[in-house]
Amino acid sequence: MDRESIQERFGIIGTSAALKNVIDRIRQVARTDITVLIQGESGVGKELVAQAIHQISPRRHGPLVIVNCGAIPEGLIESELFGAEKGAYTGATERRSGYFEEANKGTIFLDEIGEMPPSAQVRLLRVLENGQFTRVGSATVLTTDVRVVAATNKDLAREVEAGRFREDLYYRLSTVLIHIPPLRERKEDILPILERFLHRFAQQYNTPMKRLEPETKALLLNYRWPGNVRELRNVAEQITVLIPGERVTPEAVRPFLRGVTASGGASELMPVARGAAWNDASEARERELIYRALLELRLEVREMKEQIEKLVAGTALAVPRHAVEHRDAAPETGQYVILRDADRDDYAALIEDVPYEIAGEEPGTNGTRLAAGAPKAEDEEPEIPTLEDAERELITRALRRFDGNRRQTARALGISERTLYRKLKELDEDL
Ligand SMILES: Nc1ncnc2c1ncn2[C@@H]1O[C@H](COP(=O)(O)OP(=O)(O)OP(=O)(O)O)[C@@H](O)[C@H]1O
Ligand SMILES: [Mg+2]
Repeated sequence: MDRESIQERFGIIGTSAALKNVIDRIRQVARTDITVLIQGESGVGKELVAQAIHQISPRRHGPLVIVNCGAIPEGLIESELFGAEKGAYTGATERRSGYFEEANKGTIFLDEIGEMPPSAQVRLLRVLENGQFTRVGSATVLTTDVRVVAATNKDLAREVEAGRFREDLYYRLSTVLIHIPPLRERKEDILPILERFLHRFAQQYNTPMKRLEPETKALLLNYRWPGNVRELRNVAEQITVLIPGERVTPEAVRPFLRGVTASGGASELMPVARGAAWNDASEARERELIYRALLELRLEVREMKEQIEKLVAGTALAVPRHAVEHRDAAPETGQYVILRDADRDDYAALIEDVPYEIAGEEPGTNGTRLAAGAPKAEDEEPEIPTLEDAERELITRALRRFDGNRRQTARALGISERTLYRKLKELDEDL
């Protein structure tokens, strides 16, 4: 497959030399089983690249199992990855297979590999070396035929120096390293990606496509894009939905950019401070945006609910195997569905985002439990929100602020990422 076909097929936009290198790397490694480490900041397209590698590899007819190592509680990661025997830990009421077994003949994508605890690193090294592993609580050696693609937005070499990541594993993983540079280091990709998204959102929202004034383009080209392509996509959506008329001025776009004041000025291109308070000057506008974002989120959740209900009713047989996974559950609890949607990666219940259910209470699954009943009526908000509502709104707001990036959101809220995942799960059940 040539470079253009790959870009076309996977929607990878850009013409920079850096991006071309990335595509060439994908082409080189796809036909092999070699382990690949993808490195790059949040939102640069690591998962997109992993998908492309799998889809054009000879393993494309096998499963692609995506695991976010940072989202699984440390104590459970080994049993999640490698499986566990009945009774291996409290609550392990039945034997369960791990992701490495599920990925047999396919690819496993280990996202946020830098978050993997040391004991799991040892097992991973072994499976990388000879395909062998044991389930937690068992001495029987099993084998699996899996291609490993890992990703990190940490500097793993530094993690090795700091003693947090095994050196031997690092060398084993980084046989082939694909580094995706941040957008600010490949500025020529910014406008083509933005134009494509503006086009897509104009169609989606059924509005005329927005036209950017030259000064607006200059502003966007010089912005730091801390959230990279994910942020660019969100800004394109905001431009499409929130700006009236077809012409887009710099003033109209500024409120959508982090750390850029409404009046411009010296601080214009400063990176946003981590967990910074709201910018006073644009507070009213921000509140408006938050309100709309909440509404949009509600709509999305409602849409998702409808889709999931359809799935549960068994009407979505055409959905590809890797996109939706059904798991049987105890009869009274109905069906478990894991939903993946690459374009809605911030809110959809992704495999890696689905919080872990303690085995025993929810045997043999880490999927979201879905009540097939009617959706809750949209009650009016009480004047003084309950603590729970306030928390929900705060989390939603912070997530939006950080373009769905959970690490940054957790940091800004002063909670651990795992706590955030737990809270999101609660929130998801309430919405
Ligand atoms: N070159 C590109 N062209 C078009 N869309 C892109 C490009 N790169 C990334 N995207 C889109 O940007 C979004 C973020 O990409 P992706 O999820 O792959 O990033 P990531 O590096 O895995 O981020 P994170 O570290 O936060 O998990 C996705 O919607 C993806 O489709
Ligand atoms: Mg990712």
